[in-house]
Amino acid sequence: MTKKDLILGIDIGGSGVKGALVDLRKGDFASERVRIPTPTPKTPESLLGAVSEIIGAFKWKGIVGCTFPGVVRSQVIETAANMGKDFIGINLAEQIGKACSCEAWIINDADAAGCAEMRYGAGKGNKETVLVLTVGTGIGSALFTGGRLVPNMEFGQLKMRDKKLSKSMPAEKICADSARKKADMTWAIWAGKFNKYLQYVHSLIWPNLIVLGGGLSSKEEKFMHLLNVDCDIVSAKLQNRAGIVGAALEAKKNLM
Ligand code: BGC
Repeated sequence: MTKKDLILGIDIGGSGVKGALVDLRKGDFASERVRIPTPTPKTPESLLGAVSEIIGAFKWKGIVGCTFPGVVRSQVIETAANMGKDFIGINLAEQIGKACSCEAWIINDADAAGCAEMRYGAGKGNKETVLVLTVGTGIGSALFTGGRLVPNMEFGQLKMRDKKLSKSMPAEKICADSARKKADMTWAIWAGKFNKYLQYVHSLIWPNLIVLGGGLSSKEEKFMHLLNVDCDIVSAKLQNRAGIVGAALEAKKNLM
């Protein structure tokens, strides 16, 4: 493996910051994964501390690819539904660069996971319209056509009506995995809500394939048979490694 094929990937999530060295020839980890809880309160300063701890744990001196669970445009954080307003307007790549003396590349977490699935996983070689959904604390989405990403497709924020509360709210509040756990839904009840969401998104973009990733993808035997949408739907192959692998992949593409 050449030096260029080994990159540190970091996945920033609402509950954990995770990092691993990634072997980009294989699209897999080349080290153990290091995880530290996302510091609270969630501020740019505390998060930079966590990122710096991960970089330090690997004694890493090269470039770093890093996800963020919100819209990232020109390396600036534009939304941060599950992280807090303090992050909005910050050039996170620049801040990590200064705080950790390294070059960093930031990408939306679902976009990173999607890029990894398209290169190494369930979407490999697919040139049609592919939608990757990551279902965990929120719902992230990444849209590809001809193998190219359309960044920051925030399909988790589409408004849906919650029957019980009789009001509209972001779909992720109704059918993300966190919503299922919070309301202690059976799989059948959750799948009923998620099917409505899938059919709604399907009616807007008509994908050929939907890839389901995020925390939920490790439990596919519980719900895959309950899903009903008019296109192919499969589980992500890289599961919870996808964010880290995709961040490393995109860092190489954009910084080397
Ligand atoms: C954010 C997305 C993110 C998703 C998964 C949503 O709340 O708006 O940008 O991809 O959560 O973390």
